[in-house]
Amino acid sequence: MSQLRVRRQKFASKVRRRFLGLLMRLPGGHSDPASLLARFPEEALLPLRRIGLDPVPALGALREREPVSKLKMPLGLRGWLVTGYDETREILAADTATFSNDFGNMIGKVGIAAEDDPGGLGFADPPHHTRLRKLLQPHFTVRALEARSPRVREIIEDALDEVGRLGDGGAIVDLQKHFALTIPSRVIMELLGVDEADREEFQRLSAARFTFDAGVTNSLDLIQESIGLLRKVVEQQRVSPGPGLIGQILREHGDDIDDVELAGLADGVLTGGLETTVSMLALGAVALLEDPSLFRAVHDDDSKAEPFVEELLRYLTVVQVGFPRFAVRDVTVGGKAMFEGDVILPSLSAANRDPRHAPNLDGIDINRPEPLQHMAFGHGLHRCVGAELARLELRMAYPALVRRFPNLALAAPAASLRYRELSFVYGLEELPVRTV
Ligand code: HEM
Repeated sequence: MSQLRVRRQKFASKVRRRFLGLLMRLPGGHSDPASLLARFPEEALLPLRRIGLDPVPALGALREREPVSKLKMPLGLRGWLVTGYDETREILAADTATFSNDFGNMIGKVGIAAEDDPGGLGFADPPHHTRLRKLLQPHFTVRALEARSPRVREIIEDALDEVGRLGDGGAIVDLQKHFALTIPSRVIMELLGVDEADREEFQRLSAARFTFDAGVTNSLDLIQESIGLLRKVVEQQRVSPGPGLIGQILREHGDDIDDVELAGLADGVLTGGLETTVSMLALGAVALLEDPSLFRAVHDDDSKAEPFVEELLRYLTVVQVGFPRFAVRDVTVGGKAMFEGDVILPSLSAANRDPRHAPNLDGIDINRPEPLQHMAFGHGLHRCVGAELARLELRMAYPALVRRFPNLALAAPAASLRYRELSFVYGLEELPVRTV
Protein backbone atom coordinates (compact mmCIF):
# COMPACT_ATOMS: atom_id res chain seq x y z
CA MET A 1 0.00 0.00 0.00
CA SER A 2 1.39 3.42 -0.88
CA GLN A 3 2.42 5.80 1.92
CA LEU A 4 -0.11 8.30 0.64
CA ARG A 5 -2.87 5.77 0.90
CA VAL A 6 -1.80 4.78 4.42
CA ARG A 7 -1.75 8.45 5.44
CA ARG A 8 -5.18 9.00 3.88
CA GLN A 9 -6.58 5.97 5.68
CA LYS A 10 -5.21 7.18 9.00
CA PHE A 11 -6.67 10.60 8.33
CA ALA A 12 -10.05 9.14 7.39
CA SER A 13 -10.20 6.98 10.46
CA LYS A 14 -9.22 9.95 12.64
CA VAL A 15 -12.01 12.03 11.10
CA ARG A 16 -14.47 9.22 11.56
CA ARG A 17 -13.42 8.74 15.18
CA ARG A 18 -13.87 12.41 15.93
CA PHE A 19 -17.27 12.59 14.23
CA LEU A 20 -18.53 9.56 16.06
CA GLY A 21 -16.86 10.64 19.25
CA LEU A 22 -18.88 13.81 19.04
CA LEU A 23 -22.07 11.90 18.38
CA MET A 24 -21.49 9.56 21.26
CA ARG A 25 -20.70 12.33 23.68
CA LEU A 26 -24.13 13.74 23.07
CA PRO A 27 -26.25 13.53 26.19
CA GLY A 28 -28.19 10.42 27.08
CA GLY A 29 -31.81 9.90 28.08
CA HIS A 30 -32.04 12.60 30.72
CA SER A 31 -30.39 15.27 28.67
CA ASP A 32 -31.67 18.71 28.01
CA PRO A 33 -32.61 18.81 24.30
CA ALA A 34 -31.68 22.48 24.11
CA SER A 35 -28.08 21.76 25.08
CA LEU A 36 -27.90 19.02 22.47
CA LEU A 37 -29.24 21.29 19.77
CA ALA A 38 -26.70 23.90 20.70
CA ARG A 39 -23.91 21.39 20.10
CA PHE A 40 -25.19 20.05 16.82
CA PRO A 41 -24.93 22.16 13.68
CA GLU A 42 -28.26 23.36 12.41
CA GLU A 43 -27.56 21.93 8.93
CA ALA A 44 -27.43 18.41 10.36
CA LEU A 45 -30.81 18.88 12.04
CA LEU A 46 -32.51 20.59 9.10
CA PRO A 47 -33.73 17.33 7.49
CA LEU A 48 -35.44 16.40 10.77
CA ARG A 49 -37.34 19.66 11.10
CA ARG A 50 -40.84 20.15 9.72
CA ILE A 51 -43.80 22.45 9.77
CA GLY A 52 -46.85 20.20 9.92
CA LEU A 53 -46.49 17.71 7.08
CA ASP A 54 -43.84 19.68 5.19
CA PRO A 55 -40.07 19.85 5.51
CA VAL A 56 -38.95 23.33 6.52
CA PRO A 57 -38.43 25.74 3.58
CA ALA A 58 -34.74 26.09 4.52
CA LEU A 59 -34.18 22.46 3.49
CA GLY A 60 -35.61 23.15 0.02
CA ALA A 61 -33.50 26.32 -0.24
CA LEU A 62 -30.39 24.33 0.63
CA ARG A 63 -31.24 21.69 -2.01
CA GLU A 64 -31.72 24.44 -4.55
CA ARG A 65 -28.36 25.99 -3.72
CA GLU A 66 -26.28 22.90 -3.03
CA PRO A 67 -27.82 19.43 -3.49
CA VAL A 68 -24.71 18.03 -1.82
CA SER A 69 -23.66 20.27 1.03
CA LYS A 70 -20.90 20.03 3.53
CA LEU A 71 -21.99 19.75 7.13
CA LYS A 72 -20.06 22.30 9.09
CA MET A 73 -19.24 19.99 11.95
CA PRO A 74 -17.15 21.20 14.85
CA LEU A 75 -13.55 19.99 15.25
CA GLY A 76 -12.93 19.94 11.52
CA LEU A 77 -15.10 16.86 11.00
CA ARG A 78 -16.35 15.93 7.56
CA GLY A 79 -19.95 15.13 6.89
CA TRP A 80 -22.26 15.65 3.91
CA LEU A 81 -25.95 16.26 3.68
CA VAL A 82 -27.39 15.10 0.37
CA THR A 83 -30.71 16.68 -0.60
CA GLY A 84 -30.87 16.41 -4.41
CA TYR A 85 -32.86 13.54 -5.95
CA ASP A 86 -30.24 12.41 -8.47
CA GLU A 87 -27.38 12.77 -6.03
CA THR A 88 -29.19 10.79 -3.31
CA ARG A 89 -30.08 8.08 -5.79
CA GLU A 90 -26.47 7.90 -6.96
CA ILE A 91 -25.27 7.35 -3.39
CA LEU A 92 -27.92 4.75 -2.53
CA ALA A 93 -27.22 2.91 -5.79
CA ALA A 94 -23.43 2.91 -5.36
CA ASP A 95 -21.56 -0.32 -4.65
CA THR A 96 -20.13 -1.05 -1.25
CA ALA A 97 -16.60 -0.44 -2.49
CA THR A 98 -17.69 3.21 -2.62
CA PHE A 99 -20.18 3.67 0.24
CA SER A 100 -20.51 1.33 3.19
CA ASN A 101 -23.34 0.88 5.69
CA ASP A 102 -21.30 -1.38 7.95
CA PHE A 103 -21.66 -0.71 11.67
CA GLY A 104 -17.99 -1.67 11.86
CA ASN A 105 -17.31 1.88 10.67
CA MET A 106 -18.47 3.01 14.09
CA ILE A 107 -16.98 0.41 16.40
CA GLY A 108 -14.02 0.83 18.67
CA LYS A 109 -11.96 3.87 19.40
CA VAL A 110 -14.85 6.24 20.15
CA GLY A 111 -16.86 4.59 22.88
CA ILE A 112 -19.09 2.57 20.56
CA ALA A 113 -18.57 -1.06 21.41
CA ALA A 114 -19.13 -4.07 19.20
CA GLU A 115 -22.02 -5.06 21.48
CA ASP A 116 -23.84 -1.84 20.49
CA ASP A 117 -24.24 -3.27 17.00
CA PRO A 118 -27.98 -3.26 16.32
CA GLY A 119 -27.59 -6.16 13.91
CA GLY A 120 -30.14 -6.46 11.15
CA LEU A 121 -29.73 -5.26 7.61
CA GLY A 122 -29.43 -1.49 7.67
CA PHE A 123 -25.95 -1.45 9.20
CA ALA A 124 -24.56 -4.40 7.24
CA ASP A 125 -22.65 -4.78 3.96
CA PRO A 126 -22.50 -7.84 1.71
CA PRO A 127 -21.83 -10.71 2.04
CA HIS A 128 -23.30 -10.56 5.57
CA HIS A 129 -26.17 -8.36 4.36
CA THR A 130 -26.93 -10.70 1.43
CA ARG A 131 -27.10 -13.76 3.67
CA LEU A 132 -29.47 -12.13 6.17
CA ARG A 133 -31.67 -10.50 3.55
CA LYS A 134 -32.17 -13.86 1.83
CA LEU A 135 -33.64 -15.22 5.06
CA LEU A 136 -36.27 -12.47 5.15
CA GLN A 137 -37.22 -12.18 1.52
CA PRO A 138 -39.48 -15.27 1.24
CA HIS A 139 -41.76 -13.73 3.86
CA PHE A 140 -42.37 -10.63 1.73
CA THR A 141 -43.03 -12.09 -1.70
CA VAL A 142 -46.27 -11.30 -3.55
CA ARG A 143 -47.50 -14.82 -2.76
CA ALA A 144 -46.69 -14.57 0.94
CA LEU A 145 -48.43 -11.20 1.10
CA GLU A 146 -51.51 -12.42 -0.74
CA ALA A 147 -51.85 -15.14 1.86
CA ARG A 148 -51.54 -12.54 4.63
CA SER A 149 -53.94 -10.05 3.10
CA PRO A 150 -57.27 -11.41 4.51
CA ARG A 151 -55.80 -11.27 8.01
CA VAL A 152 -54.63 -7.68 7.43
CA ARG A 153 -58.17 -6.77 6.41
CA GLU A 154 -59.54 -8.37 9.59
CA ILE A 155 -57.08 -6.44 11.72
CA ILE A 156 -58.12 -3.18 10.01
CA GLU A 157 -61.82 -3.91 10.50
CA ASP A 158 -61.26 -4.76 14.19
CA ALA A 159 -59.39 -1.49 14.71
CA LEU A 160 -62.21 0.44 13.03
CA ASP A 161 -64.79 -1.35 15.22
CA GLU A 162 -62.89 -0.13 18.26
CA VAL A 163 -62.63 3.44 16.88
CA GLY A 164 -66.40 3.35 16.23
CA ARG A 165 -67.13 2.15 19.75
CA LEU A 166 -64.93 4.78 21.37
CA GLY A 167 -66.28 7.59 19.19
CA ASP A 168 -69.92 6.71 19.72
CA GLY A 169 -72.05 9.78 20.54
CA GLY A 170 -69.42 12.24 19.34
CA ALA A 171 -66.63 11.42 21.81
CA ILE A 172 -63.10 12.34 20.78
CA VAL A 173 -60.99 9.32 19.75
CA ASP A 174 -57.22 9.17 19.40
CA LEU A 175 -56.79 7.82 15.87
CA GLN A 176 -53.04 7.57 16.39
CA LYS A 177 -53.47 5.01 19.16
CA HIS A 178 -56.53 3.09 18.00
CA PHE A 179 -55.97 3.04 14.24
CA ALA A 180 -52.45 4.06 13.21
CA LEU A 181 -50.63 2.16 15.95
CA THR A 182 -52.94 -0.83 16.35
CA ILE A 183 -52.92 -1.99 12.73
CA PRO A 184 -49.18 -2.23 11.90
CA SER A 185 -48.33 -3.39 15.37
CA ARG A 186 -50.75 -6.36 15.17
CA VAL A 187 -49.61 -7.13 11.61
CA ILE A 188 -45.91 -7.10 12.44
CA MET A 189 -46.19 -8.99 15.76
CA GLU A 190 -48.18 -11.73 14.04
CA LEU A 191 -45.78 -11.83 11.12
CA LEU A 192 -42.82 -12.23 13.49
CA GLY A 193 -44.66 -14.59 15.82
CA VAL A 194 -44.28 -12.41 18.93
CA ASP A 195 -46.85 -12.72 21.74
CA GLU A 196 -49.68 -10.20 21.86
CA ALA A 197 -48.81 -9.72 25.55
CA ASP A 198 -45.42 -8.17 24.64
CA ARG A 199 -46.92 -5.75 22.12
CA GLU A 200 -46.96 -2.60 24.26
CA GLU A 201 -43.39 -3.04 25.43
CA PHE A 202 -42.11 -3.38 21.87
CA GLN A 203 -44.20 -0.40 20.76
CA ARG A 204 -42.62 1.77 23.45
CA LEU A 205 -39.07 0.73 22.57
CA SER A 206 -39.68 1.12 18.88
CA ALA A 207 -41.13 4.65 19.02
CA ALA A 208 -38.61 6.10 21.45
CA ARG A 209 -35.45 5.03 19.61
CA PHE A 210 -35.96 7.28 16.60
CA THR A 211 -36.14 10.44 18.65
CA PHE A 212 -32.94 12.30 18.29
CA ASP A 213 -33.45 14.85 21.05
CA ALA A 214 -32.83 12.25 23.75
CA GLY A 215 -29.33 11.56 22.44
CA VAL A 216 -27.77 8.86 20.32
CA THR A 217 -26.61 6.76 23.27
CA ASN A 218 -30.19 6.63 24.49
CA SER A 219 -31.33 5.24 21.12
CA LEU A 220 -28.60 2.60 21.19
CA ASP A 221 -29.68 1.58 24.73
CA LEU A 222 -33.30 1.21 23.59
CA ILE A 223 -32.24 -0.86 20.60
CA GLN A 224 -30.26 -3.16 22.88
CA GLU A 225 -33.25 -3.46 25.24
CA SER A 226 -35.51 -4.44 22.34
CA ILE A 227 -32.96 -6.93 21.02
CA GLY A 228 -32.65 -8.39 24.53
CA LEU A 229 -36.40 -9.04 24.61
CA LEU A 230 -36.35 -10.52 21.13
CA ARG A 231 -33.43 -12.72 22.08
CA LYS A 232 -35.58 -14.29 24.78
CA VAL A 233 -38.31 -14.87 22.18
CA VAL A 234 -35.74 -16.47 19.85
CA GLU A 235 -34.34 -18.69 22.64
CA GLN A 236 -37.84 -19.88 23.52
CA GLN A 237 -38.70 -20.53 19.88
CA ARG A 238 -35.46 -22.42 19.26
CA VAL A 239 -36.90 -24.99 21.67
CA SER A 240 -40.43 -24.71 20.38
CA PRO A 241 -40.67 -22.77 17.06
CA GLY A 242 -43.83 -20.68 16.64
CA PRO A 243 -45.84 -20.13 13.44
CA GLY A 244 -44.32 -16.70 12.56
CA LEU A 245 -41.19 -15.57 10.74
CA ILE A 246 -38.90 -16.21 13.73
CA GLY A 247 -40.14 -19.81 14.11
CA GLN A 248 -39.98 -20.46 10.38
CA ILE A 249 -36.40 -19.18 10.06
CA LEU A 250 -35.42 -21.35 13.02
CA ARG A 251 -37.11 -24.42 11.52
CA GLU A 252 -35.64 -23.97 8.06
CA HIS A 253 -32.29 -22.25 8.72
CA GLY A 254 -31.75 -22.72 12.46
CA ASP A 255 -28.19 -23.99 11.98
CA ASP A 256 -27.20 -21.03 9.79
CA ILE A 257 -28.09 -18.24 12.21
CA ASP A 258 -27.38 -17.71 15.90
CA ASP A 259 -29.78 -16.23 18.43
CA VAL A 260 -28.13 -12.79 18.52
CA GLU A 261 -28.20 -12.45 14.74
CA LEU A 262 -31.81 -13.56 14.50
CA ALA A 263 -32.86 -11.21 17.32
CA GLY A 264 -31.17 -8.31 15.46
CA LEU A 265 -32.86 -9.30 12.22
CA ALA A 266 -36.25 -9.51 13.93
CA ASP A 267 -35.65 -6.15 15.59
CA GLY A 268 -35.01 -4.59 12.17
CA VAL A 269 -38.28 -6.00 10.88
CA LEU A 270 -40.14 -4.90 13.98
CA THR A 271 -38.92 -1.33 13.98
CA GLY A 272 -38.72 -1.06 10.21
CA GLY A 273 -42.29 -2.23 9.92
CA LEU A 274 -43.87 -0.59 12.92
CA GLU A 275 -42.98 3.07 13.42
CA THR A 276 -42.87 3.82 9.70
CA THR A 277 -46.31 2.45 8.89
CA VAL A 278 -47.80 3.93 12.08
CA SER A 279 -46.58 7.37 11.04
CA MET A 280 -47.84 6.95 7.49
CA LEU A 281 -51.31 5.97 8.69
CA ALA A 282 -51.62 8.89 11.11
CA LEU A 283 -50.12 11.59 8.89
CA GLY A 284 -52.00 10.26 5.87
CA ALA A 285 -55.25 10.56 7.83
CA VAL A 286 -54.39 14.22 8.50
CA ALA A 287 -53.75 14.78 4.78
CA LEU A 288 -57.15 13.22 3.96
CA LEU A 289 -58.97 15.24 6.60
CA GLU A 290 -57.35 18.48 5.48
CA ASP A 291 -58.35 18.05 1.84
CA PRO A 292 -62.02 17.18 1.21
CA SER A 293 -61.36 16.42 -2.48
CA LEU A 294 -58.79 13.77 -1.54
CA PHE A 295 -61.15 12.38 1.09
CA ARG A 296 -63.92 12.11 -1.50
CA ALA A 297 -61.65 10.55 -4.13
CA VAL A 298 -60.43 7.81 -1.77
CA HIS A 299 -63.99 7.32 -0.46
CA ASP A 300 -65.69 7.08 -3.85
CA ASP A 301 -63.21 5.49 -6.19
CA ASP A 302 -61.37 2.19 -5.57
CA SER A 303 -58.84 2.99 -8.26
CA LYS A 304 -57.60 6.05 -6.35
CA ALA A 305 -56.23 4.15 -3.34
CA GLU A 306 -53.06 3.15 -5.18
CA PRO A 307 -52.04 6.57 -6.57
CA PHE A 308 -53.02 8.19 -3.29
CA VAL A 309 -50.75 5.88 -1.28
CA GLU A 310 -47.87 6.32 -3.71
CA GLU A 311 -48.10 10.11 -3.66
CA LEU A 312 -48.49 10.09 0.08
CA LEU A 313 -45.40 7.92 0.55
CA ARG A 314 -43.38 10.38 -1.48
CA TYR A 315 -44.96 13.54 -0.09
CA LEU A 316 -44.61 12.51 3.56
CA THR A 317 -41.34 10.54 3.28
CA VAL A 318 -41.64 9.61 6.94
CA VAL A 319 -38.15 8.04 6.99
CA GLN A 320 -36.64 11.48 6.71
CA VAL A 321 -32.99 10.42 6.52
CA GLY A 322 -31.63 7.09 5.29
CA PHE A 323 -29.01 5.04 7.12
CA PRO A 324 -25.70 6.91 7.23
CA ARG A 325 -23.25 5.90 4.51
CA PHE A 326 -19.47 5.97 4.94
CA ALA A 327 -17.25 6.78 1.98
CA VAL A 328 -14.88 3.85 1.51
CA ARG A 329 -12.80 5.65 -1.08
CA ASP A 330 -12.42 9.19 -2.36
CA VAL A 331 -15.35 9.97 -4.64
CA THR A 332 -17.06 12.94 -6.24
CA VAL A 333 -20.84 13.30 -6.04
CA GLY A 334 -22.72 16.31 -7.35
CA GLY A 335 -19.39 17.98 -8.05
CA LYS A 336 -18.29 17.69 -4.40
CA ALA A 337 -15.15 15.77 -3.52
CA MET A 338 -15.73 13.37 -0.66
CA PHE A 339 -12.88 11.61 1.11
CA GLU A 340 -12.60 8.11 2.44
CA GLY A 341 -14.14 8.12 5.92
CA ASP A 342 -16.60 10.93 5.29
CA VAL A 343 -20.11 10.41 6.67
CA ILE A 344 -23.03 10.96 4.32
CA LEU A 345 -26.60 11.66 5.42
CA PRO A 346 -29.14 11.10 2.61
CA SER A 347 -32.11 13.41 3.16
CA LEU A 348 -34.87 11.35 1.56
CA SER A 349 -37.60 13.90 2.32
CA ALA A 350 -35.69 16.65 0.50
CA ALA A 351 -34.82 14.37 -2.44
CA ASN A 352 -38.45 13.33 -2.87
CA ARG A 353 -39.52 16.93 -3.36
CA ASP A 354 -36.69 17.96 -5.66
CA PRO A 355 -38.22 20.06 -8.48
CA ARG A 356 -35.40 18.90 -10.78
CA HIS A 357 -36.93 15.41 -10.54
CA ALA A 358 -40.53 16.34 -11.43
CA PRO A 359 -42.95 19.27 -11.16
CA ASN A 360 -45.41 19.96 -8.31
CA LEU A 361 -43.81 17.81 -5.64
CA ASP A 362 -44.90 19.98 -2.73
CA GLY A 363 -48.48 18.74 -2.95
CA ILE A 364 -50.35 15.43 -3.32
CA ASP A 365 -51.35 14.88 -6.93
CA ILE A 366 -53.26 11.65 -7.39
CA ASN A 367 -53.83 12.28 -11.09
CA ARG A 368 -50.26 12.23 -12.40
CA PRO A 369 -50.18 10.88 -15.96
CA GLU A 370 -47.33 8.47 -15.10
CA PRO A 371 -46.44 6.90 -11.77
CA LEU A 372 -43.56 8.85 -10.32
CA GLN A 373 -40.42 7.20 -9.00
CA HIS A 374 -39.59 8.11 -5.42
CA MET A 375 -37.27 7.03 -2.63
CA ALA A 376 -39.64 6.84 0.34
CA PHE A 377 -38.52 3.18 0.60
CA GLY A 378 -34.90 4.02 -0.22
CA HIS A 379 -33.18 2.62 -3.29
CA GLY A 380 -30.58 0.00 -4.18
CA LEU A 381 -29.18 -2.67 -1.92
CA HIS A 382 -30.93 -1.51 1.24
CA ARG A 383 -34.29 -0.71 -0.32
CA CYS A 384 -37.05 -1.50 2.13
CA VAL A 385 -37.77 -5.23 2.45
CA GLY A 386 -41.28 -4.53 3.70
CA ALA A 387 -42.32 -2.04 1.01
CA GLU A 388 -45.05 -4.27 -0.42
CA LEU A 389 -46.39 -5.17 3.00
CA ALA A 390 -46.56 -1.46 3.88
CA ARG A 391 -48.35 -0.70 0.60
CA LEU A 392 -50.82 -3.51 1.26
CA GLU A 393 -51.68 -2.13 4.72
CA LEU A 394 -51.96 1.47 3.52
CA ARG A 395 -54.01 0.69 0.41
CA MET A 396 -56.52 -1.21 2.51
CA ALA A 397 -56.58 1.00 5.58
CA TYR A 398 -57.34 4.47 4.13
CA PRO A 399 -60.39 3.50 2.04
CA ALA A 400 -61.70 1.39 4.93
CA LEU A 401 -61.31 4.36 7.30
CA VAL A 402 -63.07 6.96 5.16
CA ARG A 403 -65.86 4.58 4.16
CA ARG A 404 -66.54 3.49 7.72
CA PHE A 405 -66.55 7.09 8.96
CA PRO A 406 -67.66 9.40 6.13
CA ASN A 407 -68.05 12.27 8.64
CA LEU A 408 -64.62 11.80 10.16
CA ALA A 409 -63.15 15.16 11.25
CA LEU A 410 -60.17 16.45 13.18
CA ALA A 411 -61.10 17.41 16.74
CA ALA A 412 -58.30 19.99 16.83
CA PRO A 413 -56.82 22.25 14.15
CA ALA A 414 -54.09 20.44 12.16
CA ALA A 415 -51.57 23.13 13.12
CA SER A 416 -52.09 22.43 16.83
CA LEU A 417 -51.45 18.68 16.58
CA ARG A 418 -48.38 17.38 18.42
CA TYR A 419 -45.93 16.35 15.72
CA ARG A 420 -42.79 14.49 16.70
CA GLU A 421 -39.78 16.77 16.83
CA LEU A 422 -36.34 15.78 15.59
CA SER A 423 -37.21 12.17 14.89
CA PHE A 424 -35.65 10.16 12.06
CA VAL A 425 -39.13 8.76 11.48
CA TYR A 426 -41.50 11.72 11.41
CA GLY A 427 -44.89 11.24 13.00
CA LEU A 428 -47.56 12.33 15.42
CA GLU A 429 -47.92 11.89 19.17
CA GLU A 430 -51.72 11.79 19.00
CA LEU A 431 -54.52 12.39 16.53
CA PRO A 432 -57.81 13.48 18.11
CA VAL A 433 -60.81 13.01 15.80
CA ARG A 434 -64.58 12.78 15.88
CA THR A 435 -66.16 9.97 13.90
CA VAL A 436 -69.74 11.29 13.72
C1 HEM B 1 -44.50 3.03 4.93
C2 HEM B 1 -43.74 2.23 5.59
C3 HEM B 1 -42.24 2.13 5.40
C4 HEM B 1 -41.33 3.06 4.99
C5 HEM B 1 -41.62 4.50 4.59
C6 HEM B 1 -40.04 2.42 5.01
C7 HEM B 1 -38.87 3.04 4.63
C8 HEM B 1 -37.65 2.40 4.53
C9 HEM B 1 -36.44 3.00 3.99
C10 HEM B 1 -36.33 4.43 3.47
C11 HEM B 1 -35.44 2.07 4.04
C12 HEM B 1 -34.05 2.19 3.48
C13 HEM B 1 -33.14 3.11 4.25
C14 HEM B 1 -31.79 3.29 3.59
O1 HEM B 1 -31.40 2.63 2.61
O2 HEM B 1 -31.05 4.14 4.07
C15 HEM B 1 -36.02 0.89 4.64
C16 HEM B 1 -35.33 -0.26 4.90
C17 HEM B 1 -35.87 -1.33 5.58
N1 HEM B 1 -37.20 -1.53 5.92
FE1 HEM B 1 -38.70 -0.26 5.57
N2 HEM B 1 -40.19 1.13 5.43
C18 HEM B 1 -41.51 0.89 5.67
C19 HEM B 1 -42.09 -0.29 6.07
C20 HEM B 1 -41.41 -1.43 6.38
C21 HEM B 1 -41.99 -2.67 6.76
C22 HEM B 1 -43.50 -2.95 6.84
C23 HEM B 1 -40.96 -3.53 7.07
C24 HEM B 1 -40.98 -4.96 7.52
C25 HEM B 1 -42.01 -5.66 7.75
C26 HEM B 1 -39.74 -2.82 6.82
C27 HEM B 1 -38.46 -3.33 7.01
C28 HEM B 1 -37.31 -2.74 6.56
C29 HEM B 1 -36.01 -3.36 6.66
C30 HEM B 1 -35.70 -4.71 7.30
C31 HEM B 1 -35.10 -2.48 6.05
C32 HEM B 1 -33.59 -2.67 5.88
C33 HEM B 1 -33.33 -3.23 4.50
C34 HEM B 1 -31.86 -3.39 4.19
O3 HEM B 1 -31.04 -2.70 4.80
O4 HEM B 1 -31.54 -4.23 3.33
N3 HEM B 1 -40.04 -1.55 6.42
N4 HEM B 1 -37.36 1.11 4.91
